Amino acid sequence: MELYLDTSDVAAVRRLAPIFPLAGVTTNPSIIANGKKPLQVVLPELQEALGGKGRLFAQVMAAEAGKMVEDAQKLRAIISDLVVKVPVTAQGLAAIKLLKAEGIPTLGTAVYGAAQGLLAALAGAEYIAPYVNRLDAQGGDGIQTVKELQQLLKLHAPGTKVLAASFKTPRQALDCLLTGCESITLPLDVAEQMITAPAVTAAVEKFEQDWLTAFGMPGL
Ligand code: E4P
Repeated sequence: MELYLDTSDVAAVRRLAPIFPLAGVTTNPSIIANGKKPLQVVLPELQEALGGKGRLFAQVMAAEAGKMVEDAQKLRAIISDLVVKVPVTAQGLAAIKLLKAEGIPTLGTAVYGAAQGLLAALAGAEYIAPYVNRLDAQGGDGIQTVKELQQLLKLHAPGTKVLAASFKTPRQALDCLLTGCESITLPLDVAEQMITAPAVTAAVEKFEQDWLTAFGMPGL
């Protein structure tokens, strides 16, 4: 599987890269805006924080297909092998086709339905990002959408992968992976919740305390 962090926090990526088997880092315009660093600064910093390994994803801002292609070229001038995120609108589908013809890899984003994701795959996207939590939050079923999308891609667009996004809990991420979904991107708080359960900390502290009580000093 491929595991990504959905963040522009360079220090956090540097801290977590030795701990998680990271395939790279995904961003979106809100994440970049939140970090307040321009793309020209933050993308190279993220690449360095990953140790030069792993893929980076950043999104176009234009709404029209030709302008999206220009945005994609600007992004690839910053990071030459960057995967370009394109919202799956009507214009986005046209842009994905144009970018595929130019050999530029894309991720179809803002995917709220399996049919929308399938169309992006057929247009030539390498990845499709269904928004699991946002689907749940609006009364849909994010995990079911991931399942359907995976089946559709397997049958009709086997070269495209689901990269599931928008998670609020580790449980959502696990349920998604249990469907067989091959790649996910996690926000920092969800990734950290996976390794910082209070019960684990308490168990380790108890081992240390028992050891200290018995032998009067810590360590072996
Ligand atoms: C993915 O492409 C999106 O950038 C992101 O995962 C959305 O997550 P959110 O719903 O937590 O904003």
